Amino acid sequence: MAQLSSSADVPDMGRRQFMNLLTFGSITGVALGALYPVVKYFIPPSSGGTGGGVTAKDALGNDVIISRFLEEHKPGDRVLAQGLKGDPTYIVVTEERAIAEYGLNAVCTHLGCVVPWNGSENKFMCPCHGSQYDSTGKVVRGPAPQSLALVHADTTEDDKLVFTNWEETDFRTGEKPWWA
Ligand code: FES
Repeated sequence: MAQLSSSADVPDMGRRQFMNLLTFGSITGVALGALYPVVKYFIPPSSGGTGGGVTAKDALGNDVIISRFLEEHKPGDRVLAQGLKGDPTYIVVTEERAIAEYGLNAVCTHLGCVVPWNGSENKFMCPCHGSQYDSTGKVVRGPAPQSLALVHADTTEDDKLVFTNWEETDFRTGEKPWWA
């Protein structure tokens, strides 16, 4: 009998464990399923490819048209656009009234505030904790630990601007890019 009851127990235990596993599995499955759109939302389609770029968009979500953009902005301007991963990214207008070959991610490297451009100071000045960056986005005052991240800003034949990842040496520091 003892044998019977123990052999009867074993399948019971087995069934319980199996049910536990099934419950855990389905909860995990549901959780993962529910999380998937959230996770996917934060991973842009371009993040997988190295050469993936995005067309710069203005505040209204329209593609930046370079000729019009340059009519509307003056030399030395730094103008926010929507860039890679939707990050606010500065388009740099050079003193020759052209678009610089680099753009600047506007997210402060301290705690992530969007850093405004201060034209009269010729600096980016973060209102949150006082970090400052020069006109190329190089950090000149902490607590920000790093310079603003660079992106490539390339003009296209159809008069648009495309941002792509900057994976080369940071021309401001001569070092490898901290963001790559
Ligand atoms: Fe910019 Fe703290 S977030 S200085």
